[in-house]
Amino acid sequence: MVIAVDGPAASGKGTIARALARHFGLPHLDTGLLYRSVALNLWRFGGDPGSEFEAVRACHIDGIGWDDPELRSETVSSIASRISAYPMVREALLERQKRFAAGPSGAVLDGRDIGTVIAPDADVKLFVTASPQIRAERRLKELQARGMPAHLPDILADIEARDARDSDRSSAPLRQAEDAVLLDTSRMSAEEAVAAAIVIVEKQR
Ligand code: C5P
Repeated sequence: MVIAVDGPAASGKGTIARALARHFGLPHLDTGLLYRSVALNLWRFGGDPGSEFEAVRACHIDGIGWDDPELRSETVSSIASRISAYPMVREALLERQKRFAAGPSGAVLDGRDIGTVIAPDADVKLFVTASPQIRAERRLKELQARGMPAHLPDILADIEARDARDSDRSSAPLRQAEDAVLLDTSRMSAEEAVAAAIVIVEKQR
């Protein structure tokens, strides 16, 4: 079984994808980490995020550990959001994701274009969303829990800017696949969202 989970930042898609992978015993790929790894590489060698050519040179990401805390930093998040709009960067990361989705034991992948581009034939597609205000409040709590300074209006503006970049880019924009099930987590706890996702997968598989 292949499960595609797409949605905007802080919608809950990562939590849901991890929980589905555990519940159904499937390998999981957080594809945002691929774009974040390219961003971290680019930042480390002092490359210009405004240059598609330099971003492509940063696509050799095998040396980066998935647990590198820098992958989640605000600087890397912001560079990742910019370089993920480049068609050549998306192309460089495409094969690895398709191979993961085609693995022998099935897979759960989460990102922005899994149901539309990476695994258009996935058995189950979920499009996870929540209002920008709720997503900003979640991000605020996360940052506060990590003892980091955070300001709700700034976070909200950042989330809206990222949504716009994800949705407006010409190459693999964020959009709900026609055959995806919409899961709005605005009024759900993480546990409720996971339970709802499991029910959807059980029904659709
Ligand atoms: O999901 P996450 O926030 O970790 O993703 C980091 C960045 O990578 C996002 O800003 C998004 O623009 C980009 N991304 C993408 N396509 C994916 C996954 C992530 O463009 N499949």
